[in-house]
Amino acid sequence: MSHEPESSSPAPGASSSGFGVPPIGSGADPLLRATGLRTSFGSLDVLKGVDLEVRRGKVLVLIGPSGSGKTTVLRALNALTPPQAGVIDLDGERIDFAAKLSKRETAAQRAVLRDASGMVFQHYNLFPHKTVLENVIEGPVIVQKRPRDEAIATATALLERVGLASKRDAYPFELSGGQQQRVGIVRALALRPKLLLFDEPTSALDPEIVGDVLTIMSELAHEGWTMVVVTHELAFAREVADEVAFLDGGVVVERGTPAEVFTNPQEPRTREFLDRLLRPLE
Ligand SMILES: Nc1ncnc2c1ncn2[C@@H]1O[C@H](COP(=O)(O)OP(=O)(O)OP(=O)(O)O)[C@@H](O)[C@H]1O
Ligand SMILES: [Mg+2]
Repeated sequence: MSHEPESSSPAPGASSSGFGVPPIGSGADPLLRATGLRTSFGSLDVLKGVDLEVRRGKVLVLIGPSGSGKTTVLRALNALTPPQAGVIDLDGERIDFAAKLSKRETAAQRAVLRDASGMVFQHYNLFPHKTVLENVIEGPVIVQKRPRDEAIATATALLERVGLASKRDAYPFELSGGQQQRVGIVRALALRPKLLLFDEPTSALDPEIVGDVLTIMSELAHEGWTMVVVTHELAFAREVADEVAFLDGGVVVERGTPAEVFTNPQEPRTREFLDRLLRPLE
């Protein structure tokens, strides 16, 4: 199958100083559809049949209480923690986690998911003994076998775009949290993924630098990247999300546009969750 972009022209609003053309053109059809994802850890059933859909060039924000399985969903989508059951349809390929497959077939299916997405972690997860540049080119050069010169050029341009050109040869411990997270985003982008996955990317940051990271994420969204974002930043979600899904008790309880879910939630559990988030002291 082809991995070529549907459209080679940048999304509206993208500029020559942007993050590069997203690898997947925007459109209304789903890039990824997950059906019936089930993940258990021992006797703990965490995902009990999660269904969700991510349309091309769109942003899905995933919200839900602590422990509801948001991270587990993201880790299922990129096969870091493959679910025990469920189906993911991704850009023309189908991965059925319950299928009885050989080791080789299983590995090939996981690779489809792993190669399709770039993940941005809550705690950055940079290699401490590698420089910023080495962190960013590791995936493209070692995993994707791209030419080193090309990977360095891409990494350098992306670092410049997020204001970190001067930190190219620094080590993670020499960077602030916000700077490390910007490197985390650049590292994901350098893989030229079809899908960007963000797991509470700003929740470990000091409040005054949260905005820097959210601004970069908004710019990515406007440039047409397809994104799944776990976040409690409701203002960001309201502005940037095309769709919001509320996860609770191992299932998606409610989904809709930000206006639908935030202003007029239909399910009592969604309402309770949003009330607690908006009025934490009551
Ligand atoms: N590797 C694991 N082994 C055992 N239990 C796990 C593992 N990973 C997650 N869990 C459990 O699964 C449940 C869901 O965890 P998950 O990290 O997906 O929640 P979350 O919604 O991301 O929560 P938070 O908002 O606190 O990040 C929790 O009860 C957690 O303890
Ligand atoms: Mg989590």
